[in-house]
Amino acid sequence: MTEVRVGILGLGTVGLGVARILIEQQGLMAKRLGKTLKLVAAADRDLNRDFGLDLSGVTLYDDAADLVKADDVDLVVELIGGYEPARTFVATAIEHGKHVVTANKALVAKHGEELFKLAAEKNVALGFEAAVAGGIPCLKALREGVAANNIESVYAILNGTCNFILTKMENEGADYADVLKEAQELGYAEADPTFDVEGIDTAHKLSILAAMAYGSEIKFDEVYTEGISKIGAADIEAVHELGYRIKLLGIAKPHHGQVEMRVHPTLVPLSSQIAQVSDSYNAVMLSGDFVEHTVYIGRGAGERPTASAVVADIMDIARVFPDGVAYLAPVMGYMADERKPLETLPMADVQSEYYLRIMAQDKPGVIARVTSILADHQISLEGMQQKEHDTGEVVPVIMLTYETTEGNLQAAMSRITALTAVEDEVLILRKESFNT
Ligand code: HSE
Repeated sequence: MTEVRVGILGLGTVGLGVARILIEQQGLMAKRLGKTLKLVAAADRDLNRDFGLDLSGVTLYDDAADLVKADDVDLVVELIGGYEPARTFVATAIEHGKHVVTANKALVAKHGEELFKLAAEKNVALGFEAAVAGGIPCLKALREGVAANNIESVYAILNGTCNFILTKMENEGADYADVLKEAQELGYAEADPTFDVEGIDTAHKLSILAAMAYGSEIKFDEVYTEGISKIGAADIEAVHELGYRIKLLGIAKPHHGQVEMRVHPTLVPLSSQIAQVSDSYNAVMLSGDFVEHTVYIGRGAGERPTASAVVADIMDIARVFPDGVAYLAPVMGYMADERKPLETLPMADVQSEYYLRIMAQDKPGVIARVTSILADHQISLEGMQQKEHDTGEVVPVIMLTYETTEGNLQAAMSRITALTAVEDEVLILRKESFNT
């Protein structure tokens, strides 16, 4: 039976998960592939640990730079994470004619384009299913399953840590910092958790999905990005009373040759499918002109789900091994020369509905001034609520708007914030009215 020899860079949470699958599921995978996947090498800076696995027969390296050049490795799995040295290791592995599979969304979002070119030159495959939405095979669904469609929209929950935090804050009234700590202990969070809570991880993943959906180049730096760190327990409760839940969404849509890409906390109706996606689960909603609405839900982080997606990529490559990478679907779903660097829609032109929380002095005429500014900017209100107050003279006034452009809304907000009767920054959350 043909053997595909695999080497893993990084024996952290996901690396050990991949090693475990390669060892424990070897027989099952051989039945599905007609080939054997063999873990032959692994690299980690700290080899003096108990890995909880029998790694006898696996060559262990304390320097990944040696593994990526090893003659007895056909396929390198990069699970170090981050931009560097991961980029150098992946590029070196490709230069040495090895196929590469990675779960590293930061790497693909930032350096994917150069690595795709290098892999094409060297006639090797680059797989990164695990980089987007962990265990959910959403890239395969987008690249292959709905390939006959024009993609009309992508709405996605792409960060397990944020979804876990928002769920616990709502269900248990838990404190933000405690929940973040729990997510870290469960192996969901990034090494630097600001990547999770500030929306950067979601933006990495969304930029990959958008490029694959619309045949564009990956433009991570152009994704509008806001995280969840400014959301308080009171906002979660107030939103719930209005029939909504807050989710950190990545949204991508095409606009006549431009692409809209944004990541921010979003109000979604409690009755919508995406509002039901809780804990570390992720969801990817793709709508296509023929297939209509499709939703993929699963674990977006953690050892076993992420390892499952990594090994699915290894199996795809193994099927065409040793020399048939041309039989794989194109890496970004379009033939390389059909991919166009589409412009990003300026945020000011994005259309949305809004939730506004204005801290206003509780005295006559304040609401009248606020609403007259909104009227000047043609912003129409869907609803309004003023919370009662115990002692203070400043009260939260909540307004829901109908659809308007971001540019319009921001212009109105800078005038409203400047009113002496308005204290603090206005909390602006975007809102989507899904009917599914
Ligand atoms: N930190 C990521 C998350 C891990 O929380 O979803 C998976 O990419």
